[in-house]
Amino acid sequence: MAQFTLPKNSKVRKGRHFPVKPGAKQVQRFKIYRWSPDDGQNPRTDTYELDMGACGPMVLDALIKIKNEIDPTLTFRRSCREGICGSCAMNIDGTNTLACLKACDDVKGDVAIYPLPHMPVVKDLVPDMTHFYAQYASIKPWIRTQSTAAPDTERRQSEEDRAKLDGLYECILCACCSTACPSYWWNGDRYLGPAILLQAYRWIVDSRDEDTGERLDNLEDPFRLYRCHTIMNCTRTCPKGLNPAKAIAEIKKLMLERRGV
Ligand code: SF4
Ligand code: SF4
Ligand code: FES
Repeated sequence: MAQFTLPKNSKVRKGRHFPVKPGAKQVQRFKIYRWSPDDGQNPRTDTYELDMGACGPMVLDALIKIKNEIDPTLTFRRSCREGICGSCAMNIDGTNTLACLKACDDVKGDVAIYPLPHMPVVKDLVPDMTHFYAQYASIKPWIRTQSTAAPDTERRQSEEDRAKLDGLYECILCACCSTACPSYWWNGDRYLGPAILLQAYRWIVDSRDEDTGERLDNLEDPFRLYRCHTIMNCTRTCPKGLNPAKAIAEIKKLMLERRGV
């Protein structure tokens, strides 16, 4: 069997341990990935114990408590605390999800927390989203029209056309799906990945958009679209219950339709 070894400087070491104060009755342990670009050290996992009787129920509550009361150096992104902004996406207990929507007591045993997989790390739990956002910009995520003058009133849609955006407009670009996709891990430089393709489809099916042909041309490429092999990790992991794999399949269907297949 092939043996793989990690480069020395990427091996994750055992880190510091912060025990809970004596007397706590409901103790839960959090094992959290730590890495700083500033100290030249290997990554490590630090262990923090919390008294859950004095902590909110979600993993984000635990992270905030650790940062406020135990270790202010712990770095992570968060904003809305209610599954809307997408900034607290991370890998919890082996699954990409939103820390603010994941209950601590959903996890049996210690809670392992890592940054989203296969993205460069800025620090601790903060991934570098630069490439992901550049890919998002590449699909031109806004209404594009051929007409020169913008109308004086809003661009109307029938209820039926509006319903076609359901299951798409709710995407918060958290990147949980893309970073769970093996094709994106290996070809993320050129493959757009499920999140961006779901967004691309969102504009393709919008009845108010007039650039469908150009949008499809932009995706007609062996890497940008066709690296999806329908493995379905994306749909399984989406914390908003969306189905990026289906959106990708719909784009592929449109590609065939316009070729007259
Ligand atoms: S499809 Fe789901 S997992 Fe993917 S970016 Fe959108 S909300 Fe996040
Ligand atoms: S269905 Fe496609 S996009 Fe989703 S995880 Fe599989 S390969 Fe990736
Ligand atoms: S903090 Fe906004 S989605 Fe979790």
